[in-house]
Amino acid sequence: MARILLGVSGGIAAYKALDLIRLAASAGHSVRVIQTDNSQRFVGAASFAAITGAPVLTSEWERDPARGAFPDQQLPEHDPISHLELVRNADCFVIAPASANTIAKLASGLADNLLTSAALAASCPLIVAPAMNHQMWENAATQENVELLRQRAVTIVDPEVGSLASRNEWGNGRLAQASTILAAIEQIVPAGPRPWDGRKVLVTAGGTREPIDAVRFVGNRSSGRMGFALAQAAAVRGADVTVIAANVDLPRDERITYIDVESAAELEKAAREQFTKCNLLLMAAAVADFTSAEPAEGKLKKAGRAELSLTLKPTTDVLAALSEMRTDGQTLVGFAAEHGAEAVELGRVKLAAKGLDALVINDVSGVDIGFESTTNEVTIVTAGGDVHVPKADKLEIANSILDAVDELHSAGASVSG
Ligand code: CTP
Repeated sequence: MARILLGVSGGIAAYKALDLIRLAASAGHSVRVIQTDNSQRFVGAASFAAITGAPVLTSEWERDPARGAFPDQQLPEHDPISHLELVRNADCFVIAPASANTIAKLASGLADNLLTSAALAASCPLIVAPAMNHQMWENAATQENVELLRQRAVTIVDPEVGSLASRNEWGNGRLAQASTILAAIEQIVPAGPRPWDGRKVLVTAGGTREPIDAVRFVGNRSSGRMGFALAQAAAVRGADVTVIAANVDLPRDERITYIDVESAAELEKAAREQFTKCNLLLMAAAVADFTSAEPAEGKLKKAGRAELSLTLKPTTDVLAALSEMRTDGQTLVGFAAEHGAEAVELGRVKLAAKGLDALVINDVSGVDIGFESTTNEVTIVTAGGDVHVPKADKLEIANSILDAVDELHSAGASVSG
């Protein structure tokens, strides 16, 4: 566990600092926040206070109600000068997002607000994650300031290329992903024990492809994003994670073991092998229910055919088969794509039929959620009730699903480790 002091400066990316805190907290870290005045125009201090469970400081002139203590610490007897005590208690000071203006102040040693004063007073490692318009980022002044910070052993988490806040603008300047910033923090500050240390998690992700002939297949639209987000969230919590990836073309995480498969049969074989070793199965892959009865050896030719019929035969329901093999201490979470008013009722039937601890229902009737999207909106059904998770980034949804697994655990269900 690390004590992370997070400085939030002004910019539209300030809201992404909330994701960073959530991710860091899920890994067991303790976070306090200080904000610049401008950042409060984007995200209010109340949001950061709620998510960290600690007061947020915004000015050198206010006393810290927590007297410089992090959420995991006892309040000290004395009432210290706030910013010095807070930064003295921190294992690292992370500024994310860091605006061009804040970077310029850091480079020239200005201390005109609480964030920059704390940076000057910091003897712990300083990590800066810039976010700004691409022209501001590419400006020679910003580049020279960043270079100066690097020379002073400040860790810079480079911004990413992508669409920017202003309409139709694209370029280098987006705040790095929360997981990238956390990885940079954990490279510098030892992570220590984590909530899911020793737990073995198996995730299936992506969509299977059932061959029709040597070059064609029947597939589905699953991108694997939800499964990869689950795997990443579990790895952040300290679990030992294996992903069975069915045709997923997404960046990989070096902490995670990947087994690539194509068809439902290959996925079934890998899952049966891996399942016995895991405490928790997160079955997010879209597995084909039917496969070609007789895939052609070569390539089917169109010449001489007025039509083409395919005969399909059912595949194994892998999740149901694994559920029958389960032993004490294993928890099984299934996923189902449903739509309409009866989605939760249908989910409850599937939960029982497949012998699961939880079923995550993906309502595929909405636009902009689910398949191929970076966001999702789900309902988590367990024997104890339903939890609706409103539309959010898939990593955020993944963390809510893992929180639900923790709830099952504390309610005495079968997760161990
Ligand atoms: N699943 C599986 N093996 C299959 C099909 C599905 O393991 N051959 C798993 C999926 O990974 C997912 C869950 O079962 O976790 C989905 O269950 P279900 O909704 O029954 O699958 P669908 O085929 O989507 O069901 P339906 O026919 O109702 O659409």
